[in-house]
Amino acid sequence: MKQTLCIANQKGGVGKTTTSVHLAVGLARKGERVLLIDLDAQNNASSVFPESSTKNGKDSFLLFSEKVPIRELITQTRIPGLNLLPASSKLSQIDVLLSGKMDGFFVLKEALETVQGDFDWVVIDCPPSLSLITMNAFVAATGVIVPLQISKFSLDGIEAILEAKNHTVKRFNPNLKILGALLTLFQQRTTMSQTVVPMIEEHLRLFESKIPPSVAVEEAHLLNQSLYEYQPKNKTTKAYQQFTDEVYSFGG
Ligand SMILES: Nc1ncnc2c1ncn2[C@@H]1O[C@H](COP(=O)(O)OP(=O)(O)O)[C@@H](O)[C@H]1O
Ligand SMILES: [Mg+2]
Repeated sequence: MKQTLCIANQKGGVGKTTTSVHLAVGLARKGERVLLIDLDAQNNASSVFPESSTKNGKDSFLLFSEKVPIRELITQTRIPGLNLLPASSKLSQIDVLLSGKMDGFFVLKEALETVQGDFDWVVIDCPPSLSLITMNAFVAATGVIVPLQISKFSLDGIEAILEAKNHTVKRFNPNLKILGALLTLFQQRTTMSQTVVPMIEEHLRLFESKIPPSVAVEEAHLLNQSLYEYQPKNKTTKAYQQFTDEVYSFGG
């Protein structure tokens, strides 16, 4: 395994799922063996791959609740090289199930160790919280990518993510690094972006690629397609491709 990356921000609607899906598909298109893990009870990433997510009713809930071997829960997607561990609406019960258990933080890490040799990259779509589920992703990961939407409120919350990361490094996973923040729904040359970008850069390294808004994102999702399938030449597709190249150069 080259890198296990979690896409995390405790805010909803900042582009975590869109980024997870397009990073995972983008890496698979480079010929890498990729596992996409959907840890959000809303199932949004899984819904892009209905061919896999509906299979056998097996999902990431069973990993946490019954410690079913991860290999039995992973399914192939239509994208060559891309495998999926789908989510379940029941994931919202995990915090209660695992709280107080000694090994509650290590379930995902231990599961991924059993499939080390099968994948080059693992991409984890986290829920919009810094819950026990997200902490499982931090403990299992080598890197965190933080999608951010430029707004007056972008900076709120960065501190909490940095704190959670530092806590994880100290207690559980000394290898964890924040690879950077990715600006999603980014409109260049607005006063807002010119003011907020330098403020973000005081706390986090920014990826050079910035993701512009496009209606194609919602349209592709509605059709259960990735942007690469729906509109390969779209500016947002190209931006995600460039972002994938940046990430690839870290771990490749
Ligand atoms: N670049 C983009 N252009 C247009 N809409 C986008 C873009 N990125 C995300 N969206 C839309 O914004 C919403 C939130 O994105 P999503 O990736 O689901 O965020 P999160 O997982 O952080 O909640 C979704 O409806 C998605 O389709
Ligand atoms: Mg999401």
